[in-house]
Amino acid sequence: MVIQKICCIGAGYVGGPTCSVMALKCPDIEITVVDLSKDRIAQWNSNEKLPIFEPGLMEIVQQCRGRNLFFSTDIVSAIRKADLIFISVNTPTKTFGMGKGRAADLKYVEGAARMIAENAEGNKIVVEKSTVPVRAAESIMNILKANNKPNSSYQILSNPEFLAEGTAVQDLLHADRVLIGGEETAEGQEAVRQLSWVYEHWIPSSKVVTMNTWSSELSKLAANAFLAQRISSINSLSAVCEATGADVSEVARAVGLDTRIGPKFLQASVGFGGSCFQKDILNLVYICECLNLPHVAAYWQQVIDMNEYQKSRFAEKVVSSLFNTVTDKRIAVLGFAFKKNTGDTRESPAIYVSTHLLAEGAHLHIYDPKVEPHQIVDDLNSSTMDPDIVNRNVVIHSDAYSATKNTHALIVCTEWDEFVTLDYEKIYADMMKPAYIFDGRKILDHDFLQNLGFHVQTIGKKMHRDVARAWGCQNHQM
Ligand code: UDX
Ligand code: ADP
Repeated sequence: MVIQKICCIGAGYVGGPTCSVMALKCPDIEITVVDLSKDRIAQWNSNEKLPIFEPGLMEIVQQCRGRNLFFSTDIVSAIRKADLIFISVNTPTKTFGMGKGRAADLKYVEGAARMIAENAEGNKIVVEKSTVPVRAAESIMNILKANNKPNSSYQILSNPEFLAEGTAVQDLLHADRVLIGGEETAEGQEAVRQLSWVYEHWIPSSKVVTMNTWSSELSKLAANAFLAQRISSINSLSAVCEATGADVSEVARAVGLDTRIGPKFLQASVGFGGSCFQKDILNLVYICECLNLPHVAAYWQQVIDMNEYQKSRFAEKVVSSLFNTVTDKRIAVLGFAFKKNTGDTRESPAIYVSTHLLAEGAHLHIYDPKVEPHQIVDDLNSSTMDPDIVNRNVVIHSDAYSATKNTHALIVCTEWDEFVTLDYEKIYADMMKPAYIFDGRKILDHDFLQNLGFHVQTIGKKMHRDVARAWGCQNHQM
């Protein structure tokens, strides 16, 4: 069998970009991305705005759409005609029942597997792309086998995705590695070869790594756990730096110069967010508990606990610096996405910080270049559980200058490039005095801001206010 047609179930942050790049690089393969959501598919078919913001993605979609890339809600036909089916649906953390708050909710994966079982005929390769608990492939196989039509057969592969939001297109074009896990039977290995062939249209074969299914599933959780662990490690040291004279950027640089450690993912911040790190570690913790490995579970739980500590430490620093009360104070929040170059807010530290300040009675003026205003309102409503607070005390702005005008403090929650080059002299002039900046991403020039008159606080560095250098703030309390 040579793969000619691919169906991808789930047109989200993973399925959409992955299939777009695949279509670009495999003009000989027809790829149909399907989703239950009519709105989402309509947006993928629009020329104005895709349902997700990813630099470079629109150009690729416009080049391939209608040629060998299609977005559709006709899930049944796409499954029927495909040789290979990606399952790329969401696997959120369970919010109720067994494993609540920790285990991955596999209801969408199961839903997709049942749709395949009901509609597929002939030989199909089914590929789990969603991040799933170890041995989820087995569950998918059980569903498929239990509903097997006489003329159908399946091979299940694990092919986890490692793209990061904001750099998805580049990550997909130049992947460090592609992991493919399959059964060790002859049919399993043949399916692995088929999927490898698809990737080898643009990824060197040396970077296509094959292994058994369970190793592949666990590797995805492990990679995210390691990355998040590095951030929690540097964030833990940022607290030590703030309590001493050390500077966490200098410590990170020194540590990262060791080639055994390397410089990446050592950027101290207000905390990590995103749909993967927390969810995958909680999932790993749950698996360890189920396997009766409490020490391993407790070890990884610490990575999450440190992240919670970092977010709350930062939010509390804002309140304590503003004379221990933010009630009725106006505070600008710059950035609501969980990182720059995405409109995604899942688990964004900005949600935590904003909710904390709202609970203390603050009035928030929020601006993010890419997050839709309704998304900010939805996130805060579900986090505060009180739509009245959000209606009364939150204003969403369409630029940073209007968001910061007449505020007592400005908080940088996302490292958007445009925040670095704002006219801070103008912002300072328009703010209440004393004017405070809390740089949760360590992207601003703190000396320059202090010279303008701002009181500056950041992560991992004790800020000393140089009274002699500060101009325009002679009457302010130092
Ligand atoms: C992550 C993994 O990187 C990716 O391989 C996997 O497929 C999905 O999960 P993503 O969550 O999209 O990707 O973004 P990432 O760049 O990993 O950032 C996650 C969070 O960590 C963000 O909130 C980011 O701001 C934060 N971060 C990252 C830091 O605080 N410091 C760092 O040094 C790096
Ligand atoms: P991820 O970040 O993992 O890509 P998203 O939430 O962005 O997650 O996207 C997952 C997509 O999968 C959603 O658009 C959702 O509507 C879709 N989906 C979930 N279950 C099914 C299903 N059974 N059939 C088709 N699409 C599905």
